[in-house]
Amino acid sequence: MKTYLVTGGAGFIGSNFVHYMLNKYSKDIKIVNFDKLTYAGNLENLKEIEDRTNYTFVQGDVCDKELVEKLFKKYDFDYVVNFAAESHVDRSIKEPEIFVKTNVLGTVNLLNCAKNAWETQNGFKNGAKFLQVSTDEVYGSLGESGYFVETTPIDSHSPYASSKAASDLMVKAYSDTYKMPINITRCSNNYGAYQFPEKLIPLLINNCLHHEDLPVYGDGLNIRDWLYVEDHCKAIDMVIESGRLGEVYNIGGHNEKTNILIVNSIISYLNENVDKEITQDLIKHVADRLGHDRRYGIDPTKIKDELGWYPETTFEVGIKRTIQWYLDNKKWMKNVTTGEYQKYYKNMYKGV
Ligand code: NAD
Ligand code: DAU
Repeated sequence: MKTYLVTGGAGFIGSNFVHYMLNKYSKDIKIVNFDKLTYAGNLENLKEIEDRTNYTFVQGDVCDKELVEKLFKKYDFDYVVNFAAESHVDRSIKEPEIFVKTNVLGTVNLLNCAKNAWETQNGFKNGAKFLQVSTDEVYGSLGESGYFVETTPIDSHSPYASSKAASDLMVKAYSDTYKMPINITRCSNNYGAYQFPEKLIPLLINNCLHHEDLPVYGDGLNIRDWLYVEDHCKAIDMVIESGRLGEVYNIGGHNEKTNILIVNSIISYLNENVDKEITQDLIKHVADRLGHDRRYGIDPTKIKDELGWYPETTFEVGIKRTIQWYLDNKKWMKNVTTGEYQKYYKNMYKGV
C-alpha cells in the first residue's frame, strides 16, 4: 500500500486530488493531507471523506522543519505531492514576501525532509517520488501564436510566477545534484468545484448571483488555457505512476479562451437558467493587472505521447458542471466569502 503526503490538500486542486485518489484507489492507498489552512484552505472541501481510516489531516506549515521531519518519521511516505502554495497572482503583486516564504522556502524544506527520509546507501528509497505541482506561468507570456513546451525557457513575470519558477529550479537542483526522484508538472488555469472565489470563474459566478459588478481587467482579451480540475488530477496520478524520473510534464488541453468570452458564457448560462436580471450590464472594465500576462497556451504532446493522457472534459461540458456545482453549494460559497477573504476583496477594488 502506497502512502502519499499531499500538501495543500485543503485547497482547490489539492482537495479535488484527494477526492479523485480516494475514489479511484479506495482503501488501496493512504493519504496524509498536510495543510496550514490559510484563507484558501477549507476542511469543508473534505467533509465527505474525513472519517476514512486511510485518510489523515494534519494542520501545519510546509516551512516548519521540525513538524515536517516528525511527519516523515511517523509515516513511511512513498510520494510527496506538493500543492501547498500561495496561488493568487493579484495577492502576490501586493504582498510578494509570503509567496517567497511558502512557495520557495516551504518547497526547499519539503525537499530536504524527503531527501533525509528517503536516502539509502545506494540512492533513494525504491519507488519514492517528489512531485512538484507547478504552473505554465513560469514560462511567461505568449504572443498570438505558439505554445509552451517543456523546453520553453523560464521567463516568469509576476511575483507569484517567479516564486513558482524558483521552487521548480530548487526541485530540479535536488534531481540534478542528489539524483532525488522527482517530477515537475506545469498546468494551465484549472476550474471546477471548491475553487476559492478570488479566481476568475467562481468570482464571476458569485458576483452574478449577487448582482454585483463583474470586474474585467483591461480590455478583457487576455487568453487563458482552461483545464477541468478532474482532468488535471488524473494527469498528476499518471505522472506519479509512470512519469520518467527528473522530467517536466506540461498539462493543458488546447482550451484557450479570452476572459471576456468566459464572462459572457457565465452570464448567458445564468441568464437562461437562473435569473433574467443577470446580464452584460454587470460587466465593469477596471484597471488592468500590473504586468498582466497576455496569453498562456500549453502544448500537451509530451504527456499525451508518453503517458496517454488527454483532457476528457470539453470547456462546454466543464463550465456547465462547474456553474451547477456552485449553484448547488451556495452555503459553501457563503462560508468562504465571509471573514478574511471578504475584507481583502473589499480593499482590493477600492477606488477602481
Ligand atoms: P489554493 O490557493 O486553492 O490552495 C492552496 C492550499 O495550500 C490551501 O489549502 C492553503 O491552506 C495551503 N497552504 C498555503 N500555504 C501553506 C503553507 N505554508 N503550508 C501548508 N499549506 C499551505 O491553490 P490551488 O489553486 O489549489 O493550487 C494548488 C497548486 O497548484 C499551487 O501550487 C499552484 O501554484 C498550482 N497551480 C494552480 C493552478 C490553478 O489554476 N489554480 C494552475 C497551475 C498551478
Ligand atoms: O495559469 C495557471 C495559473 O492560473 C495558476 O498558476 C494560478 O495559481 C491561478 O491563480 C491562475 O492564475 P491567473 O492569474 O491566470 O488566474 P485568475 O483567475 O486570477 O485570472 C484569470 C484571468 O482573468 C487573468 O487574465 C486575469 C483576469 N481577471 C481575474 C480576476 C480575478 C479579471 O479580468 N478579473 C478578475 O476579477
